[in-house]
Amino acid sequence: MKRREFIKSTGLSTITALIGSSVLLKACHTEEDMIGEPNWIVEGSFDRPLVFPPIVNSNVQLSAQSISGEMLNGKLTSLLSYRDGILGPVIRTTKGETVSVQLQNNLSEETNIHWHGLILPENMDGHPKDIAMAGASLNYELPVLQRAGTYWYHPHPHMATARQVFMGLAGMFIVNDEEETALNLPSGENEIPLIIQDKRFAGVSLDYSPTDDEIMTGYLGEQIFVNGVFAPYASVSKGWNRFRLLNGSTARVYNLALSNGMPFHVIGSDGGLLATPESTNSIMLAPGERADVLVDFSSQAMGQEIFLISNKFSKYNAQGRQAFNIIKFKVDREVSESFTLPTTLSNIETIPSSSSINTRMFDIAAMIGGMGGGMNRHSINGKTFEMERIDETVQAGTTEIWEFDNMMGDEIHPMHIHGVQFQVLERMGGRNALLPTEKGWKDTILLMPGEKVRLIMTFPEYTGTFVFHCHNLEHEDDGMMLNYKIV
Ligand code: C2O
Ligand code: CU
Ligand code: CU
Repeated sequence: MKRREFIKSTGLSTITALIGSSVLLKACHTEEDMIGEPNWIVEGSFDRPLVFPPIVNSNVQLSAQSISGEMLNGKLTSLLSYRDGILGPVIRTTKGETVSVQLQNNLSEETNIHWHGLILPENMDGHPKDIAMAGASLNYELPVLQRAGTYWYHPHPHMATARQVFMGLAGMFIVNDEEETALNLPSGENEIPLIIQDKRFAGVSLDYSPTDDEIMTGYLGEQIFVNGVFAPYASVSKGWNRFRLLNGSTARVYNLALSNGMPFHVIGSDGGLLATPESTNSIMLAPGERADVLVDFSSQAMGQEIFLISNKFSKYNAQGRQAFNIIKFKVDREVSESFTLPTTLSNIETIPSSSSINTRMFDIAAMIGGMGGGMNRHSINGKTFEMERIDETVQAGTTEIWEFDNMMGDEIHPMHIHGVQFQVLERMGGRNALLPTEKGWKDTILLMPGEKVRLIMTFPEYTGTFVFHCHNLEHEDDGMMLNYKIV
C-alpha cells in the first residue's frame, strides 16, 4: 500500500490523489481501489432525546438475540440485542463485589463476552476460544478487584467481533470505589454515559458488509449514534456535568471538542481516575477507549445549546477529513449542590522503567500475504491470529515494556491488551506527545500512521492465555491479534 494524500480542488469536489513513496509490501489493490471516497457523515436534526441504558448491578441476565428495534424515526430495523434494543444495560458495581452474568446465546451463531478493561481470571475474560455455540449459554462470575473506572463489554468471537458489535451488542461496565466516592463527583442526572458509534443502513436494516477496501480502512458508518439514538440531544445542568465517554465504534476515531470551545476537564481514562484533572479542548478517542470528563456549563445561559463535535484530524486518511456534530447539549436545569474541581483525584504510582525485565517489540505496520492475488492481511510481527498458537509468554507479577511500532504504517491502529492495564511511557513520531487521557492507566492506545509507543505494564497473577489486538475491529477480525500467555 502507498501513503495517500488527498487534495480537494477549490470549489470542486474532485479529489486528486498524490502518490507518496513508502512501500512496505506489494499491494494487491490498485490505487483507485485504495483511495475510495470517505463515507461523508449525514447529520440528523438533534431533536430526539438521549436514551439512558438501564443500570443493573450484581445479577445480570443477557440474552443475545436478533430482534427488530426502532433506530431511525418510525422504522423498524433488524439488529442484535442483549435485551430489547441496541446496546446492553450499564452494569454498575463496586470494587470488591462479584458480578454474575448469565449469557444466553439465542443467535444462530457463536458469541461470548469480553469484559474490556477488567482484570479477570483467564476463563472469564472472553477469549475467542471460550465461546457459546448457538443455543448454548455461558455463566460469568466476575470478581471485580480493580479501581473505579469506565469499562465496557462486547462479544469476542473470532472473525465476527466487528459485525456483532456493529449490530448492537455492547454495553458499559462502571466500577465505583471508595476513593472515587470521596470526591463527590457530579452524579445522578449529572453523570451521563455517552456511547458513541457510527452506523450504516441498507433500507431498514443495519448494514454490516465491509468491502476489501473497508477491511483496510475500517468500516465507517455515515450516521452517528449515541447510546443507540441517532443525532440526539441531552439536557444538562447549568453547572458541573460528568460525561463517561466510550467509543464503541468498530473503526471510527473521534476528535472530540465542544462547539463553543469550552474545555473538558479530563478526570479519568481507560483504567480509572487520573492523578490530577487535565484541561483540554480536544480529546482523540479511538475505538475501545474511554474518557471520563467534567464540563462546567455554569457560565452558559439557560437554554443555551452546545454540541459535542468531532473535528478533522487527517488530510489523507479514509477518516478524519470532516468535522461533524455528535450530540446536542441543552443547558436547561439548575444544579442544587455546588461542586469544586478537586486538585488531586487519585494516587497513581508510576511504574519505573528500571523495573522492566524485558522489552518486546511489535511491528504493526506491515501487511502480509497478498501473494498470488490473495488479500493482504493485517498482522502483528508478520503473524495473523491462530487460536492455539502462543505468541508471547510472560511471567505473572513481572514488569515489561511493550513497543508498538506503526512508524512505517499508513493506517490507524488502536492497540488493546487484555488482562492488564498499562502506563504509556512515550509516543515517538507523529503527534510525538502523550495526550491528557494517556497520563493514567490505559488498556487501549491509539497509533496514528508514523507513530510508535512504549508501554509499561506489570502482569497480574492470573495465569493463562489472553489476547492483544488492534481495536479497529475490522483489523482484529482480519487477524491483527496474537495470544500471550501469563505463566
Ligand atoms: Cu474491546 Cu479484545 O477487546
Ligand atoms: Cu479487552
Ligand atoms: Cu489496526
